[in-house]
Amino acid sequence: MKIDVLTLFPEMFAPLDHSIVGRARTLGQVEMTLTNFRDFSTNKHHKVDDYPYGGGAGMLLTPQPIFDAFDAIDKRRPRVIVTTPTGRRFDQQLAEEWATEEHLIFLCGHYEGFDQRIHDELATDEVSIGDFVMTGGELAAMVMIDATVRLIPEVLGDQASHEDDSFSTGLLEYPHYTRPAEFRGLKVPDVLLSGNHAKIETWRRERSLERTYRRRPELLERIDMSKSDKKFIES
Ligand code: ADE
Repeated sequence: MKIDVLTLFPEMFAPLDHSIVGRARTLGQVEMTLTNFRDFSTNKHHKVDDYPYGGGAGMLLTPQPIFDAFDAIDKRRPRVIVTTPTGRRFDQQLAEEWATEEHLIFLCGHYEGFDQRIHDELATDEVSIGDFVMTGGELAAMVMIDATVRLIPEVLGDQASHEDDSFSTGLLEYPHYTRPAEFRGLKVPDVLLSGNHAKIETWRRERSLERTYRRRPELLERIDMSKSDKKFIES
């Protein structure tokens, strides 16, 4: 997969040099290019922002540097993602969809955001990572890149390790335990040590349902519940 990021702060993307995304880049599974669109400004002071027409607080990113930086990218049919708190909310389903794409281009907003013509002409997706406003779109782009790259089949290798992820199943994930079986008097639930796989599956499903019911009840409306799921929830 190719990922291009247009940003005023390419140095902010250092976290993606590490861990799973870093390894995917080293192995050539992901080719990420960071471009500072200030370098494309034709203004003699490399200005990239200006006051909004009609007045109001803050500055907006002007079209010229971003359109020119965008035109310079070698591309066929990319997904062009504009990071903005006014976008559709990012979720696991969108990450799964993007993980199948050949080329993602992220445009990171700053200040009060972009001139609307950037959204209208360049974006295929306008996306927010949550109902809060950050100082810029870089952290949002990193969050989305991380969540997407780990779903590329070659990247995680062991498919099963994300098929049970929270949200992949529509539910929050059940709790996990590892050795030792007892730590400072805190015991791992007996069922997990029982070797009875059917019982373990039932226990995990019930803990997922319980957690989702308590923390994110709205998610339960979107899943197909079996008879035993319904019985458990009603109890
Ligand atoms: N830029 C500022 N806030 C944002 C958010 N919540 N999501 C995406 N981009 C943003």
